[in-house]
Amino acid sequence: MCGIVGYVGTNKAVPYLIEGLSKLEYRGYDSAGIAVNINKDIQVYKAKGRLKNLEAIIDMDMDSVIGIGHTRWATHGAPSDVNAHPHMNQTRSIAVIHNGIIENYMEIKEWLIHDKQVEFVSETDSEVIAHLIDYYYTGDLLDAVYKAVDRMQGAYAIGVIAKQEPNRLVAVRKDSPLIVGLGEDENFIASDIPALLKYTRNMLLIENDEFVDLTKDKVTIYNSLKQEVTRDVYEVTWDIDSAEKEGFEHFTLKEIFEQPKGVKETLMRRLNADDEIVLEGVNLTSEILKDINKVYIVACGTAYHAGLVGRRAIENFAKIPVECDVASEFRYRDPFVDERTLFIAVSQSGETLDTLQSLREAKRKGARVLSIVNVVGSSVARESDDLLYTWAGPEIGVASTKAYTTQLIAFYMLALHLGRLNGRLDMVRYHETITELKNMPAKLEVVLGQSEKIQKLAASQFNNEKVFFMGRGVDCDLAYEGSLKLKEISYINSFAIAAGELKHGTIALIEDDTFIVALATQNALYDKMLSNIKEVKARGAHVFAIAKAGNDQILKTADEVFFIPDTMDDLAPILAVVPTQLLAYYVSALRGNDVDKPRNLAKSVTVE
Ligand code: F6R
Repeated sequence: MCGIVGYVGTNKAVPYLIEGLSKLEYRGYDSAGIAVNINKDIQVYKAKGRLKNLEAIIDMDMDSVIGIGHTRWATHGAPSDVNAHPHMNQTRSIAVIHNGIIENYMEIKEWLIHDKQVEFVSETDSEVIAHLIDYYYTGDLLDAVYKAVDRMQGAYAIGVIAKQEPNRLVAVRKDSPLIVGLGEDENFIASDIPALLKYTRNMLLIENDEFVDLTKDKVTIYNSLKQEVTRDVYEVTWDIDSAEKEGFEHFTLKEIFEQPKGVKETLMRRLNADDEIVLEGVNLTSEILKDINKVYIVACGTAYHAGLVGRRAIENFAKIPVECDVASEFRYRDPFVDERTLFIAVSQSGETLDTLQSLREAKRKGARVLSIVNVVGSSVARESDDLLYTWAGPEIGVASTKAYTTQLIAFYMLALHLGRLNGRLDMVRYHETITELKNMPAKLEVVLGQSEKIQKLAASQFNNEKVFFMGRGVDCDLAYEGSLKLKEISYINSFAIAAGELKHGTIALIEDDTFIVALATQNALYDKMLSNIKEVKARGAHVFAIAKAGNDQILKTADEVFFIPDTMDDLAPILAVVPTQLLAYYVSALRGNDVDKPRNLAKSVTVE
């Protein structure tokens, strides 16, 4: 998704802008641009494609102490130099960067064209912002931005500079992320923290409908009524190093290997010396829980797949009925949510618009909102009643890996906690599960220690264009995640099915050398999976199975088997997902893809 940065200070702005944009690359983009103000002349440089194309046409030493920069992920209009941001008004006195979508841009555009004779140059929705601000501009940029925003509907994080005010940067936010970085004699804006971490650890998290007026020595935040608001400085404690590759070829691989650490952090920060779960940030009591008769888990993509596993965990451990839905569907189906519902939002970024809007919808209907989020201070986190952070650390690879396993840990802990609160979970099972959760970091290391096996498998299958994932029970939920990971970074048309559904249609597609990833980690469903594997083998498929150590019978049935360490059925997804992540990674790398930044994808989906 688009990323924005801005700088106002005493140093030359361009290196800051380029560095900031490079840290936003992981969000996904197809063009980039900057605008600077040199002696009251706004100069704009834009280039389609990677940031290096932009760097090739600019002078890093340009004499400007203010500037804005943008990485664009095309929505309205193809990726091109013209459609890239910043956009300008006709007299080139105002430059604008925008992340989000202006929903009523057509109406504004038509008005500007017909009534105000404005000529547009791009196909974007964002260009209207520059012309609107120009229309209202009478010497005070903040005032003009207020008036322009008043006419706009949609989602936006906007940064603006004006030729006549060479020391002022104005920004505004609604439903798209925006943070301010505070420096000495310099201040910054950005879409997220990693873009600024090289320069400052002191951030202001900007809320919806807030405007920010920045000069080199002052940052003022205003609400929609133009009243000044105060904001505590958020000091970032995690290190920039955790957002570097540290010798791994790709962030995605590094993040797969960081899972033991993320899992340990997410778990151990919440267990006291007696193995009691202490969920700081979750204020659910047994009294409150008595009134809750239903749980809704809502998320997108990989976070949704974690939610599917979470659903089973809550049903198994706490015996509460759970529904799990993708956010883009939940929002539009008038769901049965009321004040007796616990709504759980799951999101790595905490900025996914569909998830955020679903959360708001659930709140409107009276639900209590609990969120499982990785990015501290993100919108989903801030708008929730109860909050469980996953301590995965920054996830830079577009494909979500370590966020998923830490989301699973958060769900298991929540499920155990709810089971204890409502008295439906016995202590023996509780302690057994906690003990096994504590074994997970070490068991994950064992799985990762066998990564070469997956590398070899990838070398033999990376050109196979027919891939299925199948499983039963929680392995079916995992099949969806394995398949998504493979398709998003390898571009192979893989898909996932409940193994029991094979005979109801999909088996017609199985032919010689179809590659099947069979997840067979569930003891209770093991024999059934063996039968499913035989069925596809009989039709010529090549089967790679993932099973638990000790379940050797599968060696006679599948072509290749990856054994994860033995564990409880409930917790097996934590381990079994790893070979599927490694498979997707190695296949993608062998196909020469940009693993960390797969085509057409964005890390943080802040539009619908
Ligand atoms: C897949 C992936 C996406 C995200 C989805 C939700 O690897 O990364 O499917 O899981 O866009 O994003 P968050 O978790 O940030 O809400």
